[in-house]
Amino acid sequence: MTVDLRTKLGPLTLKNPLVSGGGPVAGTLQHIKNACDAGFGAIVTKTASYYGEFQRYPRPVYNICDIRVAADDPIGISECSWMHNDHNSVYPPHQFVKFLPEASEYCKKNDCVLIGSFAGAGLEQWERMARDYVDAGCQALELNFCCPYPQVMPETAQGNEHLIGQTFGDNPALGAEVIKRLKQIVDVPIFPKMPPTARKDIVNIAKMYKEAGADGITIYANSMVLKIDIETGEPMGWGASIGSSHGHMLDTCQDTAKIAKEVPDFAIMSGRGARYWYDCIELLMAGAASVQYSAAIHVYGLKHVKSMLNDMENWLERKGYKSIEQVKGLALPKIYRSADVKNRVKALVAKVDASKCIACGRCAEVCFYDAAELFVKNGKGAAKINQDNCAGCTICGQVCPKKCISFTERAEEIEYLRALGSAHPDLLPDIFGEK
Ligand SMILES: Cc1cc2nc3c(=O)[nH]c(=O)nc-3n(C[C@H](O)[C@H](O)[C@H](O)COP(=O)(O)O)c2cc1C
Ligand code: SF4
Ligand code: SF4
Repeated sequence: MTVDLRTKLGPLTLKNPLVSGGGPVAGTLQHIKNACDAGFGAIVTKTASYYGEFQRYPRPVYNICDIRVAADDPIGISECSWMHNDHNSVYPPHQFVKFLPEASEYCKKNDCVLIGSFAGAGLEQWERMARDYVDAGCQALELNFCCPYPQVMPETAQGNEHLIGQTFGDNPALGAEVIKRLKQIVDVPIFPKMPPTARKDIVNIAKMYKEAGADGITIYANSMVLKIDIETGEPMGWGASIGSSHGHMLDTCQDTAKIAKEVPDFAIMSGRGARYWYDCIELLMAGAASVQYSAAIHVYGLKHVKSMLNDMENWLERKGYKSIEQVKGLALPKIYRSADVKNRVKALVAKVDASKCIACGRCAEVCFYDAAELFVKNGKGAAKINQDNCAGCTICGQVCPKKCISFTERAEEIEYLRALGSAHPDLLPDIFGEK
């Protein structure tokens, strides 16, 4: 191996940044061994809990939807969304841990970190499970702060609503209480796993959990999703499914960068929507320490792991990176807050190179500032930009098949504001001193 794929995940070092996200991929002894053989740097077990409803709830019925087919893809699926009704392990935690000693031995021998996942109700349960999972050989714990949904299934809460995972999205101080307590009784890294409902306050939650002693955070689990088959008019998965799509990576990537910037030295196990090796690189560049994959393994199978590692290594080598650590956080210095964009980034203006233009009209179709126009006479012509109207949105350049539209910076902010308001100049605010 010429590229060092190792990544630091808090106090742990993983042999590579690919992590098997909590789920059936690591729901039994044999499946954990298989996931380990597949090459993951770490494996999160299926979540076990004492929620009777959740043990029986699984009607797994997996749905792969929104499939995009790529001709050159050996599996035939280039992109997809995922839905399921698969919640906690059928084995209660005190039984689940019985096969973990053998599983963790196997993982250790293969330089793979086994992370135990469980969901408690009440401090006593969280404590007991943490001890049991560590005694069984888990090298780290992922606290499932994503399920169950007491709002949906009050009978599962048994009077402990205030200390059930999903509640912590709304009341993170309670999650901090659990973390603080567990850090007093076990000596392994702890990662709370958050539901996407925690997005609205994720930076503060991360700060609070770091202060409570967590070594990092996992973002995100699935959320309730809905897909309707228009041929039958029926919802897929009875309308009660949870899932993720490749598009969810956009949310996760944004939040990964926010946490990485504002909560330094706090490991992020990022994911949700990651399907390919380049998704991992992207999230690492946004500041993640490792990346979890779940639906992708269900769709492509365990062989996807080696194939991703291979492609990732080739790409890193081609780009001249010596190690995975070199790409971590690479994009962070160039990620601005929305409020800073106007001070840091100058407005742009478009120009067409008429000698290359084939007069296809794509630019004019997408310009909603009435700046790009097509001039055709006797079958000949080219596009032209009315610079007085150009907002510099750049979409014309992105759709132009000949890439013959270039952009330069405007000298004065006021020219850009005038262009933005060119359709109704009389309605512009009084910033021009002209009224
Ligand atoms: C079939 C299936 C079962 C899952 N079960 C669990 C689980 O037991 N515990 C858990 O924390 N997450 C579970 N998840 C959620 C995943 O770990 C992951 O957070 C989520 O699927 C989003 O990532 P993805 O887009 O890579 O699938 C499950 C996911 C799938 C696909
Ligand atoms: S940059 Fe935007 S506003 Fe300017 S011509 Fe292109 S599409 Fe129109
Ligand atoms: S999209 Fe490009 S090639 Fe097509 S008309 Fe506009 S400038 Fe010309």
